[in-house]
Amino acid sequence: MVKYRNNPPDAAALMASARSFGNYNLPSALADLLDNSIKARAGMIEILCLREDGEPTVRILDDGHGMTEDELFGAMRPASANPEDERAADDLGRFGWGMKSASLSQCRKLTVLTRKNGKYAGASWDLDDIEDWQMGILEHQEIEKLANPKLLERDGTEIIWENCDRLSEYGKVRAKEFNELLAHAKSELALTFHRYLAGEMGVRKKLTITFNEGALDPIDPFLRDHPATQSKPVEHLELEGKPFSVQAFILPHFSKISSAEHERLGGEEGFVKNQGFYVYRQHRLIMHGTWFRLVRHGELSQLVRIAVNIPNSLDAIWKITVDKSEAQLPSGLRSRLREIVKSLKGQSGKVFQSRGGRIKQTDGKTPVWAKYVRSGEVRYYVNREHPLVADLLEHEDREVRQSFGVALNLVEDCFPAVSIGEDFTTRPEMMNQSALDRDAFLERLDAALPSLLAHCDGSFEKLWELLQVTEPWGGQSTLVEEHLRLKGWKNA
Ligand SMILES: Nc1ncnc2c1ncn2[C@@H]1O[C@H](COP(=O)(O)OP(=O)(O)O)[C@@H](O)[C@H]1O
Ligand SMILES: [Mg+2]
Repeated sequence: MVKYRNNPPDAAALMASARSFGNYNLPSALADLLDNSIKARAGMIEILCLREDGEPTVRILDDGHGMTEDELFGAMRPASANPEDERAADDLGRFGWGMKSASLSQCRKLTVLTRKNGKYAGASWDLDDIEDWQMGILEHQEIEKLANPKLLERDGTEIIWENCDRLSEYGKVRAKEFNELLAHAKSELALTFHRYLAGEMGVRKKLTITFNEGALDPIDPFLRDHPATQSKPVEHLELEGKPFSVQAFILPHFSKISSAEHERLGGEEGFVKNQGFYVYRQHRLIMHGTWFRLVRHGELSQLVRIAVNIPNSLDAIWKITVDKSEAQLPSGLRSRLREIVKSLKGQSGKVFQSRGGRIKQTDGKTPVWAKYVRSGEVRYYVNREHPLVADLLEHEDREVRQSFGVALNLVEDCFPAVSIGEDFTTRPEMMNQSALDRDAFLERLDAALPSLLAHCDGSFEKLWELLQVTEPWGGQSTLVEEHLRLKGWKNA
């Protein structure tokens, strides 16, 4: 006979470890709470991150259906749901831990106030006062005092984080750090929930999220409403009998989008880091910037982004993590997705090629490379009239002039024509010679500007005219113009 003895976990210890379930940061912790609000059919979510005397407090208020007292107590219970249970199709939750572990990953005291059908309930967990699983219960008066006045007027839920020790290293956070933290959280949320914010097809009613009273604008990582974005057809696939879909997009070349768009698309890590798959679970972005090792680095252009839309019924197969920040590509899908990626290789190349430099001298542009064709002989040479080249060839120092001339001849004599020809016939999409990254392009422009300005005898006006007809800047005059204007080198 097996004997049994009760052996529950120690409350303080378990809740302290719950702080590290998942790998939350401020935006992903907030996102987990927003998932709950969305599940509760909220149309409006207000996030307030305040800093008083250096101490941060966070409040998230929604106008969802709220909870009864019993529901609230159930919801406050750690592991309030079994991850193995089937979830409603619109449920963004999974482990029954989100509200607790996401909140406590950022703060030591979590309070939840809620109103359902006009009736209030409130409860709190305080890591510093949790012996024997004692949960704080708030009386009606306390709720009235503490709650956002809006919660007293309509149903909904308000989550309050106090003692935010993870937001502040030593209990206090400096204004600058705090503002950076908030700016990051804001843009992450605008991306994570962009489909909800835009009220897209198939996604329930449009959602408004305000962050410190400013409404979040959706950040569409595919820039779908830009005329130069190429949307590929949606592919409908199945995994264990459950449908999901994949759609690829080729973003416009950087010369065709505004700096603001470029900034938003590149995020903090830049364009390249953000290429790859964008995995959505119930229309909520859970991860991006990965190729799941399906693509070798640089194999596909940085302009390709692929949306993968999965329902929550496939959570287990995709191995969604507690903090919903990660998923693993199911092995049954690798080959199918690889095929999709392969079919894109040829096409993404074209966006680049059409941007490539022309060898022939066209519409008055001064090219870097020129060629002559004579009695059946073709030879490519560096255009001696390109201003940067011309200036060096006339350098005041004879030795510089000579060395530069020698180097130019060397580059021309050893022009890898055969290798280029081969690459171009076998894998044109991989030809990647021109500066594709906007930042690199501008950096190189900046490096060239002093010489170019000297070439124009210091005249900004002449410089601008020169840039318009000189490769590679002439092909990107909008971008160059904007850049010069920012530097104060060109008038509006
Ligand atoms: N803002 C909210 N409005 C209404 N109910 C909520 C809200 N937040 C949480 N809940 C309830 O609390 C439960 C537990 O939430 P959570 O700890 O995030 O786990 P999960 O989302 O995995 O179920 C939810 O299933 C829901 O019933
Ligand atoms: Mg949840």
